[in-house]
Amino acid sequence: MSEETWSKVDRYFEELLLGEQPALDAALRETETVGLPAISVSPLQGRFLTFLAQSMGARRILELGTLGGYSTICLAAALPNDGLLVSLEVDPKNAEVARRNLERAQLHDRVEIRVAPAIETLPQLVRENAGPFDLIFIDADKESYADYFPWALKLARPGTVLLADNVVRKGEIIDAGNNDARIQGARRFNALVAAEPRVRATAMQTVGCKGYDGFLLAVVQ
Ligand code: SAH
Ligand code: DHB
Ligand code: MG
Repeated sequence: MSEETWSKVDRYFEELLLGEQPALDAALRETETVGLPAISVSPLQGRFLTFLAQSMGARRILELGTLGGYSTICLAAALPNDGLLVSLEVDPKNAEVARRNLERAQLHDRVEIRVAPAIETLPQLVRENAGPFDLIFIDADKESYADYFPWALKLARPGTVLLADNVVRKGEIIDAGNNDARIQGARRFNALVAAEPRVRATAMQTVGCKGYDGFLLAVVQ
């Protein structure tokens, strides 16, 4: 089974199930045209994000790692008119692209992008009493997932869902000796989640046009 097959199957389901999604398609095109890396969640994963937020009736969502705002649009699309998504992004250029994409999707009224290292914005959100968030999507620098987790917990309530992207990385996650800081970061994060009595977690391996990776899903008890 090859990456080529996974991509073809992704394309098959995209055409079959997603069809035209003008704002989302434009956001992805724009993200790639301006030269941002092709690391947004895939279109099928994006719809999964929408469904997750929708099915739990999320009103307040926190995202770490905006990039061009593709996942942001998917999540914000599930919010009611008076809902709020706060997205943390370190790169002002990415935030600008995301703002344009959100405007085109007419979701900018319920999204706030905070431009700073997430490790600075998270304590600020706690000080502002910005929580609790119903859903927290962790997708910024993998090196720091473990540092973000305690702050995510402070901004959560019982029932909050934490979703973390890229915790499998072609299976490299099981290699304790791997010295890639991103793998070490994800391993530290997974271990912290496992050791935290306030959450129960599971992991979903994924294949598709982004290769072989996966999500960790945790629910605060
Ligand atoms: N969630 C996006 C993809 C995010 S890619 C989507 O699926 O559409 C990861 C993003 O995290 C990049 O835009 C990167 O600039 C941002 N990032 C990296 N380090 C960060 C940090 N320390 N704080 C906040 N954002 C960071
Ligand atoms: C990569 C993929 C991602 O989903 C992400 O958030 C960051 C990097 C990657 O494949 O390199
Ligand atoms: Mg990701």
